[in-house]
Amino acid sequence: MASPRQVGPSNYFNPASIDALPEGTANLVRRRLATLGPAYRLFYDEPVEFVRGSGVHLYDVAGNEYLDVYNNVASCGHAHPRVAAAIAQQAATLSTHTRYLNQAIVRYSEDLLATMPDAIGHVMYTCTGSEACDLALRIAKHRTGGTGVIVTRNAYHGVTTEIAAISPSLGGVESLPPWVRWVPAPDSAHTDISGCSSLGEWFADQVQQQIDDLAAHGIRFAAFIADSIFASDGVFSDPVGFLAPVRAVIEAAGGVYIADEVQPGFGRTGSAMWGFDRHSSAEQPFVPDLVTIGKPMGNGMPIAATLMRPEVIEEFARDMRYFNTYGGNAMAIAAAQAVLDVIRDEGLQANAADVGDYLRRALRELATRYPHIADVRGDGLFIAVELVIPESGEPNEALMLSVVNGLRRRRVLIGTAGLLNNNLKVRPPLVFSRADADRFVSELDGALAESTVTS
Ligand SMILES: Cc1ncc(COP(=O)(O)O)c(C=O)c1O
Repeated sequence: MASPRQVGPSNYFNPASIDALPEGTANLVRRRLATLGPAYRLFYDEPVEFVRGSGVHLYDVAGNEYLDVYNNVASCGHAHPRVAAAIAQQAATLSTHTRYLNQAIVRYSEDLLATMPDAIGHVMYTCTGSEACDLALRIAKHRTGGTGVIVTRNAYHGVTTEIAAISPSLGGVESLPPWVRWVPAPDSAHTDISGCSSLGEWFADQVQQQIDDLAAHGIRFAAFIADSIFASDGVFSDPVGFLAPVRAVIEAAGGVYIADEVQPGFGRTGSAMWGFDRHSSAEQPFVPDLVTIGKPMGNGMPIAATLMRPEVIEEFARDMRYFNTYGGNAMAIAAAQAVLDVIRDEGLQANAADVGDYLRRALRELATRYPHIADVRGDGLFIAVELVIPESGEPNEALMLSVVNGLRRRRVLIGTAGLLNNNLKVRPPLVFSRADADRFVSELDGALAESTVTS
């Protein structure tokens, strides 16, 4: 049967194939489709049902163990006992919101802000990264009086109406409203920067052109927002410092720089606690106006936040008030405090740096045997492996699909990144060890060997 076209990465399960699944799986997929409806997606040609997690492992309904090389929310490891205990204890004690005085939220906020540059002075809590980006955009628009927003080509920032409208990875750049402009992602491997002295200068120039275009259409520029690791665009991390020139362009245009740290934040990139910090230098610290964080913040407990320079929120605070029923509630804060403590006490940022370097070296070694691997890039435990057709160098989506599903059969979980669906997204919990990296590379070798026989 011809596959109906689905929006989103091609490693999603195609509902037209339900009948080919094992009976138990097919029944659950049918019931899920009947109840949750058609807009949700499942991973893999054969969706997998997990019942338990521990560290870097997930266990399916039959008790099989899978190596998790994909999930960044459980950054401290699945079901981390310290985080679970903190949540359970708080649930059994008190769970109220931010309209009452509470020591824990103030202590956590002080702790969190201490990880940011001094100029970032306030934090406001939400439940999801989408809301955090939504709030950041509201504040930016209020501050500047503008509406124009600039994003990258395949950006994803979340699901609220406003944020879906600035997320071309959802509906393509054709879906963007007139107040949104896009720029190509800063892809150092595939961008022709001739005429510019650096990738950073080239990228700043792209953004300047869109600021000018907004102005030419009578739209006042409000904000530039970028995921500091450009995850949905394909993972672009090099050269370190390339975002510095664009920061200056935005400031000069009177706009606001929003650093979306939902993906790279909390030590994942190894070299820095926050992705934007990779773009700081001794002479020029990189300080965004607003920062959004989420995903690993609660190791699974829904908590996210918008952080800011105090001056950015002045007008908004004068004209508006802010309350989010669950944002910053006591249970979420207990989880977030435990996560921050675990990141520090278990040295997870340093582990991300060490194991990430080790893994990239091993993947580059693997690439010497597979001309299908065109590039291995990233920082810390955020890595993209780019797959191409060796003869032409063209993106190899078919191979990516085969490898992702092959790894799933080998009980290794992995995702995809990028506009052209030809990058493996390697983004495991930060407790990933060198031995886990060895297992992953060995299984990837096996999946590539199987897949490249025919591709
Ligand atoms: C870069 C980025 N920003 C924002 C979000 C939205 O976060 P949430 O799904 O928690 O709303 C995501 C989610 O994938 C993301 O990757």
